[in-house]
Amino acid sequence: MDKTIFVSLRFEIMDFERIREDFPILRKEIEGKPIIYFDSACQSLRPKQVLEAMNRYYEDFPACAGRSIHKLATEVSIRIDEARGKLARFVNAEKPEEISFVRNCTEALNTVIFGVGLKKGDVVLATDREHNSVHVPLLKLKETTGIDYQIVPSRDDETFNLDKFSEIAAESRPRLVAMCHTSNVNGTTIPAKEVCKIAHENGALVLLDGAQYVPYGGVDIKDIDTDFYAFSAHKMCGPSGVGILTGKYDELSKIEPRTYGGHGISMATRKHADILPPPERFEAGLQNYSGIIGTGAAADYLSRIGRDWIVTHVNHLNRMATEQLLKIPDLKIIEPGNPDLRSGILAFNIKKRNPHDIAMILDNMENIMIRSGMHCSHSWFNDREIEGSARASFYLYNTKDEISLFADTLRRLQ
Ligand SMILES: Cc1ncc(COP(=O)(O)O)c(C=O)c1O
Repeated sequence: MDKTIFVSLRFEIMDFERIREDFPILRKEIEGKPIIYFDSACQSLRPKQVLEAMNRYYEDFPACAGRSIHKLATEVSIRIDEARGKLARFVNAEKPEEISFVRNCTEALNTVIFGVGLKKGDVVLATDREHNSVHVPLLKLKETTGIDYQIVPSRDDETFNLDKFSEIAAESRPRLVAMCHTSNVNGTTIPAKEVCKIAHENGALVLLDGAQYVPYGGVDIKDIDTDFYAFSAHKMCGPSGVGILTGKYDELSKIEPRTYGGHGISMATRKHADILPPPERFEAGLQNYSGIIGTGAAADYLSRIGRDWIVTHVNHLNRMATEQLLKIPDLKIIEPGNPDLRSGILAFNIKKRNPHDIAMILDNMENIMIRSGMHCSHSWFNDREIEGSARASFYLYNTKDEISLFADTLRRLQ
């Protein structure tokens, strides 16, 4: 049997109801109607396994890791080490020390962009659809340091243009390639392994923004061969307020941290401070222990379900939604049209309707929760003179019935 069909059948029959039951919020109603959550690209819902792991910290060992030596503190240190190990396996890092816990993906990306030592004239290559957390730091460095920030234009169908990237990389010899692995604007994914190969052949380091890729079941950073990789826990069934910076240990060791304080240094005199190597290097100050433990539980949760399973399900929903929305007059899907290229994202506009109005009406009518606006990627919309879009993003707990109601409700807007 075809592997995709097998994966999807297993999903349909055995586990789907169990997965829905894991998410307590999906059992609740607002104004007598269930919640239809299509905003997971912004922030996913959390399963009870994550919530329980987080609560255990506050109930059973609510102390500080890596500092005090009493029993509660020792327990936290053990749990944080465990979480680091889980995340290392989730991204196939060489060792747990390659995992640093920071506040969010934004902090991880900024840490590398500002800490890698870019100088005047250094070329940095990015896509034309970067989130502000890559685009704005690069703009700032252009203003303050004089880096040469260049964009690789997308193809006409809004997919990544590898040939163009290869051409620009060979011509410009970039110091850094900083790109979103999967886009939050249209869901397209870059061929990360090829991008890293071309970047390295041209002498560049690579920083990948994995915020929208990792929620589908982790990543293999070793296979991709990226130097740095950043993502957030809150889009992968984990808590808000935790981000992960990972990559090659030797490259991480050369990054100058952005924040200094307790825990990130080994010794300080009046004249000098010794900064610790990764991961502590990037973990100054008291950490979000409950959040880190919850992030470990989220990685376990997604690993148990598996990338094949999640991708197949989400793609199936996106195909179904695309097919139904295409029949709605005046509705235009943000390219690419092919749902197989858009992961769980379906961004669209309806002629003469403001995206925020669409989002509000869906919410008011059927508790269908989507995102609207420019999705923190203003530059992409401004380049194309589009005021924004409505964006539905599907995830592992969404159903075919939800998709049908979504399409029906949009039809009623006509
Ligand atoms: C592609 C991408 N990069 C970066 C971010 C920033 O993530 P965070 O807000 O967790 O820092 C997001 C969040 O939406 C994103 O979608």
